[in-house]
Amino acid sequence: MKNPFIYGTIVTGKYFVDREKEINGIMNDLLSGQHIILYSPRKMGKSSLIEEMFRRINRGGKAIAIRINLQSVITKEDFAKLLIAEVIRKAYSSFEKAINEIKKFFEKISVRIIIEGDKIAVEPLFRDKKELLEEALEFLDKKGKKKRLIIAFDEFQEIEKFDGLEIEKLMRAIMEKQRNVSYLFAGSEKHLISLIFENEERPFYRFGKMVKLGPIKREDLEKFIVEKFKETGKKISKSAINFILDFSEGIPFYVQAICHEAWNLAENIDLKVVKKAMDNLISSFSPGFEIIWRNVRSEYQRRLLIIMAKEDKNFKPNTKFIEEHDLKSFAHIRKAIITLEKMGIIHENRIADFFFREWIKREKII
Ligand SMILES: Nc1ncnc2c1ncn2[C@@H]1O[C@H](COP(=O)(O)OP(=O)(O)OP(=O)(O)O)[C@@H](O)[C@H]1O
Ligand SMILES: [Mg+2]
Repeated sequence: MKNPFIYGTIVTGKYFVDREKEINGIMNDLLSGQHIILYSPRKMGKSSLIEEMFRRINRGGKAIAIRINLQSVITKEDFAKLLIAEVIRKAYSSFEKAINEIKKFFEKISVRIIIEGDKIAVEPLFRDKKELLEEALEFLDKKGKKKRLIIAFDEFQEIEKFDGLEIEKLMRAIMEKQRNVSYLFAGSEKHLISLIFENEERPFYRFGKMVKLGPIKREDLEKFIVEKFKETGKKISKSAINFILDFSEGIPFYVQAICHEAWNLAENIDLKVVKKAMDNLISSFSPGFEIIWRNVRSEYQRRLLIIMAKEDKNFKPNTKFIEEHDLKSFAHIRKAIITLEKMGIIHENRIADFFFREWIKREKII
């Protein structure tokens, strides 16, 4: 039997739980031309939600939906090329049709089309390189005329690695005139998303509807866990389920990770098996956690992290707490928190990665 729990990659179909309300809301908005900004803490399931929703949209046939991950591109040109290649791959039934239209659509610049097996690439001829992104975006609107295009830019905060505000200005200027493309921008770090979309000085200020993706309901996750173990001929105890759900707080990544490991360990999963699964997971993540820990340079920040790991939800830095833990002053805490937040280690006064929190609790003492 195959392990029915998957973590670390995008999940869809029968491996995907719930999110019906979110999917329907966002889908209707996108189909009617509303742009969306989707954000959440890490691992809440944005990319999976986008893929699952896009599968449904593409099956329904009212629009063509494509997800582009900005993390996988390094330059602005790569970004433009990926955009064109993905649209060709998903929106045309044959390369032949694609080639004919592209010749028509790309007016300002000359491009060369390269086909290798089932792969297609569009290369701008050398001197036109600069305008490629502009053309790629305009191509989207032309292509969307017959059937709406929905484009998701996943990890959109990565846009900042290109050339700063210039590209944002260019994109906004083109996108706001378009009528045939709906855009979904997704990103993890709320402050980055809000920096790009909620800062009056930035080109993308209030460009779309902000949607925050929250945790999945406990009963939906419980049902998912019970069913998947049952389907694969295994059993899980009530206390084991409760432990997993308490620890995960509705974040699907933790549920899937713990269940995956527990599934591998036994036929009957009780609390002991789940704890063993936790041990295995935390030690498998340990090398990465060591690196993060080494990057926290100041002794004070490390000490604060240990206290936060131990106290977790009870971390309330008031006068008494500061004195008890010898944390100098509120100003000191604040400064350290800002740094640790920027590093992505802390989110809303808690350690963002729950496994990292457990690792600190086990490995570090003050
Ligand atoms: N609806 C879901 N049902 C079941 N599991 C899910 C669901 N959404 C996410 N997951 C689990 O959580 C993991 C992380 O999901 P995903 O990569 O979609 O999150 P993300 O918010 O895009 O994360 P990141 O912040 O790393 O971009 C998946 O590998 C999967 O195990
Ligand atoms: Mg993602």
